[in-house]
Amino acid sequence: MARTALVTGGSRGIGAAISKALKAEGYNVAATYAGNDEAASKFTKETGIKTYKWNVADYDESAAGIAKVEEEVGPIDVVVANAGITRDAPFHKMTPDQWKDVIDTNLTGVFNTVHPVWPGMRERGFGRIVVISSINGQKGQFAQVNYAATKAGDLGIIKSLAQEGAGKGITANAVCPGYIATEMVMAVPEKVRESIIGQIPAGRLGEPEEIARCVAFLASDDSGFINGSTISANGAQFFV
Ligand code: CAA
Repeated sequence: MARTALVTGGSRGIGAAISKALKAEGYNVAATYAGNDEAASKFTKETGIKTYKWNVADYDESAAGIAKVEEEVGPIDVVVANAGITRDAPFHKMTPDQWKDVIDTNLTGVFNTVHPVWPGMRERGFGRIVVISSINGQKGQFAQVNYAATKAGDLGIIKSLAQEGAGKGITANAVCPGYIATEMVMAVPEKVRESIIGQIPAGRLGEPEEIARCVAFLASDDSGFINGSTISANGAQFFV
């Protein structure tokens, strides 16, 4: 029977490419989105992938949404915690709200997404958790104290979950994308973006499909011995 995959933030950007790649691999895919109804319904129309609206920063909403997905699509075997936001500002200008919004969505959002599916994965003896971190969680980034903290936090989450899940057939891994051609990166001022591209030895931004390929690999049944690892896909911009 086909496995079921949940992709948070799965109707746009990197998440949309992940949803499509997993569908192409034969998974039943459910994609969540936070607010953009129009983009989500267009995505469903184009791909046939079901979308569900909830705020990953809210535990109760996440748990209720996940219960609905499991009822309508099936027990979740693969979770891709991808939903994320930026609220960039130099630290001296960063507001407590900019800090809190990013922590709540990007970091607590991972807890809220994985925690409700974890008991079912333990019971069934199979699970794949893939968290979308970032190059900026590995190296830090000017104007991203909040975002870099969450993306570094993701790496602590997967390394800990890996140890807890390994005996139960569950793996937890991260993908650290570099700068990818999505709306998030396009929102960076053009001059800054050009200077970033200048720091990428590949000489270009990455494509969302190049991240989706990493996720599909980590999600597969035969990736069971890869656990607590990080795949960096950044065009040689940074090595850990
Ligand atoms: N390194 C060093 N200095 C930088 C810098 C950088 N990366 N980016 C901006 N600065 C400097 C500017 O040159 C400018 O310096 P001067 O004042 O000496 O001219 C100063 O910072 C800008 O200061 P401001 O007070 O005017 O800044 P601002 O309040 O207008 O904020 C900004 C501007 C938010 C920092 C904007 O430049 C920006 O968005 N920078 C990009 C940050 C970034 O790379 N974010 C990543 C987004 S993509 C992503 O997050 C996806 C992923 O996972 C990779």
